[in-house]
Amino acid sequence: MKLLSWLTIVSAFVLFDLFGYSKSFATFSPPDNYLIACGSSQNVTFQGRTFVPDLQHSSLTLKSVTSVVAVSNSSFPSPIYQSARIFSKVASYKFQIQQEGRHWIRLYFYPVPNSGQNLTSASITAVTDDFVLLNNFTFKNYKGSYLFKEYAVNVTSDSLTLSFIPSNNSVTFVNAIEVVSIPDGIFPDQAFSVNPRAPFSGLSELAFETVYRLNMGGPLITAQNDTLGRTWENDAKYLHVNSSAVTVTANPALINYPASVTPETAPNWVYATAKAMGNANVANMNFNITWVFSVNRNFSYFVRVHFCDIVSKALNNLVFNLYINDNSALDSFDLSSFTNALNVPYYRDFVSNSSLESNTLTVSVGPDMEADITNATMNGLEIIKISNEAKSLDGLSSVESLLPESLSKKSKIGIIIGSVAGAVAAFALSVFCYCCLVVRKSKTTHQGHPWLPLPLYGNSQTMTKVSTASQKSGTASFISLASSNLGRFFSFQEILDATNKFDENLLLGVGGFGRVYKGTLEDGTKVAVKRGNPRSEQGLAEFRTEIEMLSKLRHRHLVSLIGYCDERSEMILVYEYMANGPLRSHLYGTDLPPLSWKQRLEICIGAARGLHYLHTGAAQSIIHRDVKTTNILLDENFVAKVADFGLSKTGPALDQTHVSTAVKGSFGYLDPEYFRRQQLTEKSDVYSFGVVLMEVLCTRPALNPVLPREQVNIAEWAMTWQKKGMLDHIMDPNLVGKVNPASLKKFGETAEKCLAEHGVDRPSMGDVLWNLEYALQLEETSSALMEPEDNSTNHIPGIPLTPLEPFDNSVSIIDGGHSGTDDDAEDAATSAVFSQLVNPRGR
Ligand SMILES: *[C@@H]1O[C@H](CO)[C@@H](O)[C@H](O)[C@H]1NC(C)=O
Ligand SMILES: *[C@@H]1O[C@H](CO)[C@@H](O)[C@H](O)[C@H]1NC(C)=O
Ligand SMILES: *[C@@H]1O[C@H](CO)[C@@H](O)[C@H](O)[C@H]1NC(C)=O
Ligand SMILES: *[C@@H]1O[C@H](CO)[C@@H](O)[C@H](O)[C@H]1NC(C)=O
Ligand SMILES: *[C@@H]1O[C@H](CO)[C@@H](O)[C@H](O)[C@H]1NC(C)=O
Ligand SMILES: *[C@@H]1O[C@H](CO)[C@@H](O)[C@H](O)[C@H]1NC(C)=O
Ligand SMILES: *[C@@H]1O[C@H](CO)[C@@H](O)[C@H](O)[C@H]1NC(C)=O
Ligand SMILES: *[C@@H]1O[C@H](CO)[C@@H](O)[C@H](O)[C@H]1NC(C)=O
Ligand SMILES: *[C@@H]1O[C@H](CO)[C@@H](O)[C@H](O)[C@H]1NC(C)=O
Ligand SMILES: *[C@@H]1O[C@H](CO)[C@@H](O)[C@H](O)[C@H]1NC(C)=O
Ligand SMILES: *[C@@H]1O[C@H](CO)[C@@H](O)[C@H](O)[C@H]1NC(C)=O
Ligand SMILES: *[C@@H]1O[C@H](CO)[C@@H](O)[C@H](O)[C@H]1NC(C)=O
Repeated sequence: MKLLSWLTIVSAFVLFDLFGYSKSFATFSPPDNYLIACGSSQNVTFQGRTFVPDLQHSSLTLKSVTSVVAVSNSSFPSPIYQSARIFSKVASYKFQIQQEGRHWIRLYFYPVPNSGQNLTSASITAVTDDFVLLNNFTFKNYKGSYLFKEYAVNVTSDSLTLSFIPSNNSVTFVNAIEVVSIPDGIFPDQAFSVNPRAPFSGLSELAFETVYRLNMGGPLITAQNDTLGRTWENDAKYLHVNSSAVTVTANPALINYPASVTPETAPNWVYATAKAMGNANVANMNFNITWVFSVNRNFSYFVRVHFCDIVSKALNNLVFNLYINDNSALDSFDLSSFTNALNVPYYRDFVSNSSLESNTLTVSVGPDMEADITNATMNGLEIIKISNEAKSLDGLSSVESLLPESLSKKSKIGIIIGSVAGAVAAFALSVFCYCCLVVRKSKTTHQGHPWLPLPLYGNSQTMTKVSTASQKSGTASFISLASSNLGRFFSFQEILDATNKFDENLLLGVGGFGRVYKGTLEDGTKVAVKRGNPRSEQGLAEFRTEIEMLSKLRHRHLVSLIGYCDERSEMILVYEYMANGPLRSHLYGTDLPPLSWKQRLEICIGAARGLHYLHTGAAQSIIHRDVKTTNILLDENFVAKVADFGLSKTGPALDQTHVSTAVKGSFGYLDPEYFRRQQLTEKSDVYSFGVVLMEVLCTRPALNPVLPREQVNIAEWAMTWQKKGMLDHIMDPNLVGKVNPASLKKFGETAEKCLAEHGVDRPSMGDVLWNLEYALQLEETSSALMEPEDNSTNHIPGIPLTPLEPFDNSVSIIDGGHSGTDDDAEDAATSAVFSQLVNPRGR
């Protein structure tokens, strides 16, 4: 482990040196770069870029029955609007795409006068293969003289078709089109929704429309000065109170991009100007700077806030809050703790709706009153509309309902492929809706079924993005499962017998994946039978992962897979039965008797052993990714076992420091660093385990939205008390007076280290285990000697320690499917190393 973190540090430095600086000079060159002047006969230069006539472009085809060209003799409003192509029937441009991924689609419209048509009253509808961009727009009631629209659409095939649809007996037109690649890192799949407070995933499958892009306090930046051809406007006209803000500027050359932010994120001109709190001549300096934007309340918005501390003289002075509408987005936000230097760009992404019942969205920054200085700042802001359920950015009609059928898909095959894709999309949508529903539901009500032995994907607040690709691979691999070595095969009849034909009275729990029943095998063994819904493809990848992971892993503190059944397209897993259910149900929400401190420590130690084995026991380390109190199950002797490997991922190989991945896991337990950087390490599990430790101590859910804001998140709440050394104030009242203070202190310190903001600062699972063992020792010694005193933090003092209990290698494999010897050998090796570490007299 030490080697690994050392490698992390070294490679971080190497990366920084090699790319940190050169990056800010390398400009992105888009694989696809169409700049099209429609109807023009010559190249048009606009904002430093050359637009080529539509009919002169080799990899662009225009399908249109009739089209005419309009050319204006004045260059008002700018040269790009001088010409237009006018269509009286549906027409489309088909662009060959070199590289899949998000592309800008920028459209320019101006009702050129003297065209022979009244373009002012023309209706404009523009759609891509999947998304409606513009629906029935007309200049008739529009205030401006021209219209510029910017969209970002993820193109997932080798072409993009852009269609323009006139309304009946009328014409439609377009002046210029851009289709340009966007670098992959610019738009994430995930952002943080501010209301409800939850991660929002699945953005990569949605279309975006830029509605506002502001350079706070700065000049207008046009395509010429932005490597991605974006326009950034000054913020002044959106300020709620002009005097609340002053402009701050720095030399753009001093902006120091870190590895995670590039000039493609935003040009240095954006970061070199900011708004900060004005000296508003008010007695109370506690006010917000607020910007107000008019938005369409029928849509959700992606909000990216850019920061760069050009205001402060020193680090850690500037601490402020960010609000979107009336919702807190960043609380006591200490910019320097993320950038570690001044003049370093940083940004955060959010998802928000308009403010309640209105067509506005407000963004505010205000000082944190406990900070050393009273000030707040913002450098840039992007507000981007997200496509709705109809895959539209304008209205409720879908592409299918707008395009005449004959044109929507070229041939029968096209239609078939289309409807399959549609079904997949509808499925993805329903998964997404389901997740939203679950998140929302769990916000207001508590789980109806506290006893859920094998919490499945989709249950509680677990969130997952199901992508078409992963489903496909899931199906493929699942078919091949039968041939691999996965424990006992059960016939469907055996399963029916064991569960009394899936008797609802034996139902243990329901999750997104399906249902879990208690069963009894012929020989009397009690089992838990997890039955995937045969009609739903949901969780197929998770299902496969779980079988593959579990069949490779055997450990006393991991729930064992006994076998499976895939007869009659069933997806059934059979596990050992855990009589005492999930840890959570022994902490709160049920009438079960409270656990003693010693029991709690033993359970945490058991779970930590299971996780430690996952991280280090197998050839390649395994990251659980969904560590939480409902995934720690207790057997009849209260031995803790870690369950639910549906989200597990094999860890980084030695030459890598992390696994990059879409963020998955359960909100409230999610490693903030993982969430931010989407880089998975074992330390993400350590963070989640820290949350579990706090939950065990305080007997309350990881997230409880009903509580006052500062208490909602247990990690934040418990950490404020731990830092004051007063964790006993919020611990389970049942424990008060019954816990050895030194043991509690050790436990609190361990949890605190697990919850460190940065992964590198967190201990390994092995260290956690060691510290918990020590806390248990302190508890036991104290009850024996009545002499509690601990002044150590990191090392083990001369208190005699018993070696770890030997690992129990007996595994309940019923049919000789998996011999388990290799893993057991690993396990024994781990345990040997461990006993040495823990027992100071071992050497
Ligand atoms: C128009 O621009 C394209 C691309 O920049 C260039 O290849 C072409 O020669 C130009 N045509 C004219 C007539 O200038
Ligand atoms: C453009 O042409 C119209 C008539 O076709 C004429 O009235 C107008 O003066 C011209 N404008 C310019 C700027 O040449
Ligand atoms: C074009 O239509 C608009 C709206 O219907 C009308 O106000 C305008 O006068 C018309 N222009 C011409 C030249 O007919
Ligand atoms: C388009 O908008 C006009 C008013 O601007 C309306 O009369 C017409 O019915 C709309 N067409 C469609 C298809 O919604
Ligand atoms: C356009 O005309 C077709 C047939 O002529 C009709 O079915 C359709 O409803 C019309 N659409 C609108 C928006 O008027
Ligand atoms: C585009 O969509 C594909 C397939 O859904 C996805 O794998 C990819 O990450 C997306 N790209 C971006 C930049 O969102
Ligand atoms: C934008 O670029 C132009 C030409 O390269 C330059 O003259 C101008 O100063 C730049 N403006 C900003 C704000 O960078
Ligand atoms: C605030 O600033 C905007 C833009 O500079 C200006 O249009 C507006 O009149 C100002 N409002 C007041 C009250 O000064
Ligand atoms: C915030 O910082 C800026 C830049 O240093 C300064 O001009 C402004 O007066 C500060 N605001 C307050 C309220 O101190
Ligand atoms: C929102 O949608 C409703 C119909 O669902 C529509 O009546 C309303 O005009 C829409 N609001 C806006 C601002 O588009
Ligand atoms: C946000 O608005 C969208 C579109 O109206 C709606 O579907 C969604 O439920 C809203 N979300 C919240 C949290 O109100
Ligand atoms: C700043 O705005 C937020 C959100 O609207 C609000 O809750 C808070 O009270 C405001 N702060 C002050 C000092 O007005």
